[in-house]
Amino acid sequence: MQMTEKRDVLIKEWLKEAATEIKEALQHDLEVEVKSRANDLVTQMDRKIEKELVQKINQHFPNDLIISEEGFGDHVSREDFEQQTVWFLDPIDGTLNFVLQNENYAVMLAVYEKGIGKQAYIYDITHNKLYWGIKDNGVYCNDQPLPKMKDLPLDKGLFASNSMFLSDQQVSFNAEITKRAMGVRTIGSAGLESVELTKGSTVAYVSYGLKPWDIAPGLFLVEENGGVVTQFDGSRVDLLNTNPTIMATPTAQKEITKLLS
Ligand code: IPD
Ligand code: CA
Ligand code: CA
Ligand code: CA
Repeated sequence: MQMTEKRDVLIKEWLKEAATEIKEALQHDLEVEVKSRANDLVTQMDRKIEKELVQKINQHFPNDLIISEEGFGDHVSREDFEQQTVWFLDPIDGTLNFVLQNENYAVMLAVYEKGIGKQAYIYDITHNKLYWGIKDNGVYCNDQPLPKMKDLPLDKGLFASNSMFLSDQQVSFNAEITKRAMGVRTIGSAGLESVELTKGSTVAYVSYGLKPWDIAPGLFLVEENGGVVTQFDGSRVDLLNTNPTIMATPTAQKEITKLLS
C-alpha cells in the first residue's frame, strides 16, 4: 500500500474515534479555560483530542513531526519542514463555537512531505461530514467527489471573513471588498470556511493572523479543488508562521490583493 493510502485509512479511523469522544463530551459540561484573551478559549477536549492524535501519529509514524496548537507537537525548523514528513493538527478548530454553540467546529489534519501537501482532512463532526483529499485525486465529502470550484469573481458570490477583519476601523479595504461581494458570511472556523470555499458556497475567505494548523488542511483542499491561497500581498503563505491569509477563487484572489495593496 502507498504511504498516502496507509495514512488515509488510519486518519479516517482516528477521526471517527475523535468524533465519538467529542460527541460524548458534549453531553456533559465542558471544562473551559481562557488563554490569551477573553475570547481565546481552550477546553479539556482540545487538549485530549490533540494528545491522543499525537500519540497515534507517533506510534505509527515515529519519524514524522507534528505542528499542533495545544502544545503536544514538535518544534519544526524550516530544514525539518523541507526534508521530513510533517503533520499539521488542529484538534478543534472553532473552539469558541464548540463552547458557545456546540456546533460549527472541526477536527483537522494535513500531511506535508518535504514541504509539499499530500493529503488533508477537515471533519465537520456535527453534520458528520468529512472533507478530505489526496494529492491529484480531487476532494471528497465523505464518499462523494466535490465538483471543481468555478472561477467566480467577488460580485458573483459570497465573501467570508473573521470578525476581526470585518470590524477593523483602521482600514477601508474591508468595506470595499464586502460591498463588491453579493453578501458576507462568517462561521468562526477557518477550516469550515475553507470547506465552504472548496464546495463553491463562497468565493473568498480572508483572515488576519491564521496559524499553520488553521491554514494547512484548508490550503491543501482549496488548491486541490482549483482555488488559490496567498498572503494579503499575493505571496505564498508560510506554513511555519502566522499569516494574513486569502483563500479564494483565482479571480477573487486577484481582486482582493489589488484592493488590499
Ligand atoms: C480559530 C478559528 C477562527 C479564526 C481564528 C482561529 P481555534 O481557531 O479558526 O475562525 O478566526 O484565527 O484561531 O483557535 O478555534 O482553533
Ligand atoms: Ca485556539
Ligand atoms: Ca484553529
Ligand atoms: Ca484549535
